[in-house]
Amino acid sequence: MLVTCLSDINIIKSNQAHELLKEFGNIYTRIMNPTTDVFEKRIAALEGGVAALATSSGQASQFIALTNILGAGDNFISTSYLYGGTYNQFKIQFKRIGIDVKFVDGDDPGEFERLIDDKTKAIYLETIGNPGFNIPDFDAIARVAGNNNIPLITEHVDDIKTDLTRAIKKTFA
Ligand SMILES: Cc1ncc(COP(=O)(O)O)c(C=O)c1O
Repeated sequence: MLVTCLSDINIIKSNQAHELLKEFGNIYTRIMNPTTDVFEKRIAALEGGVAALATSSGQASQFIALTNILGAGDNFISTSYLYGGTYNQFKIQFKRIGIDVKFVDGDDPGEFERLIDDKTKAIYLETIGNPGFNIPDFDAIARVAGNNNIPLITEHVDDIKTDLTRAIKKTFA
């Protein structure tokens, strides 16, 4: 079977494509276009952040956030109080690409600290855990992350919008 993928970028010589992608702006719609740009700016403003990146699913956003920071051989520490799809992505799919997850049973800040080693590149939480509806102590866990020079990544399902759960503000206030 022959599978052929055609796209605009395929007809540009690879060295030209490399040059084009250095330019900032609306040069390639998967990376950025005016519609997603407006959407991202509004989300960033609503959440109190400096920038946003829109993806087509929660799993995609998690993948992009984590694989931009971690590579094979690295690990991150996550609460076990997670949406089932996320738990599987971390435990099964990330393992296949050499990224290890260490689960804390719950969201005790001391437990996150205890599991950090020299290959730990991030701490991961849900702002409201699914299905437990737990709300972690963001300030304490952000301090653990900051003291160890690693980012705290939070995933926030936007069904409930209150100041209590405004993800970026809570994480970086
Ligand atoms: C906490 C959480 N994250 C993500 C998702 C959905 O992820 P996706 O858009 O990849 O299906 C859900 C769905 O219930 C969820 O509860």
